Amino acid sequence: MDKSISTSIRTTRKKLLLPMTMTAVSLLSIVILSGCGNPSPNAAEPFGGNKTANTAEAMVGASEQVQSLYKQSCLSCHGNTLEGRVGPKTNLQQVGERLSKEQISKQIASGGNGMPGFGTKLTPEEIAALTDWLATKQ
Ligand code: HEC
Repeated sequence: MDKSISTSIRTTRKKLLLPMTMTAVSLLSIVILSGCGNPSPNAAEPFGGNKTANTAEAMVGASEQVQSLYKQSCLSCHGNTLEGRVGPKTNLQQVGERLSKEQISKQIASGGNGMPGFGTKLTPEEIAALTDWLATKQ
């Protein structure tokens, strides 16, 4: 009598154990998948992707030479999209409206107010090429 009761309890426990383990495993995998799996593939997209597009847009009308000059000498302070990285006065997005070509080329050659002069680092042709391009930024 006693034996048969305890056997039936044991069987019931066994029957419950499997579904409970399955539930725990599937819950765990949902947590892992949603917690760690999702952010990494998407994370690079909004930043990496857009930056490239904006740089390309800002470089519209710039020759290969001007692009590489700008990237080498100017981008660190004036930014990927000419937005300016070291204060509002370093935004060059409308510089052609604000300054004449003479003023732009003078600024590049002599610098001033926190900007180094490039008169000795760049040739007059390089400065002229940068100036012509920046003058179109209006
Ligand atoms: C070390 C940082 C730095 C670098 C590198 C730099 N600039 Fe500047 N630039 C500045 C700062 C700061 C100003 C703002 C000066 C001011 O307050 O009038 C400025 C101003 C200018 C202006 C005048 C903007 C205006 O509206 O008055 C032009 C044009 C310009 N930079 C072009 C260039 C070009 C082209 C290069 C690359 C050959 C370059 N800059 C590299 C820091 C920099």
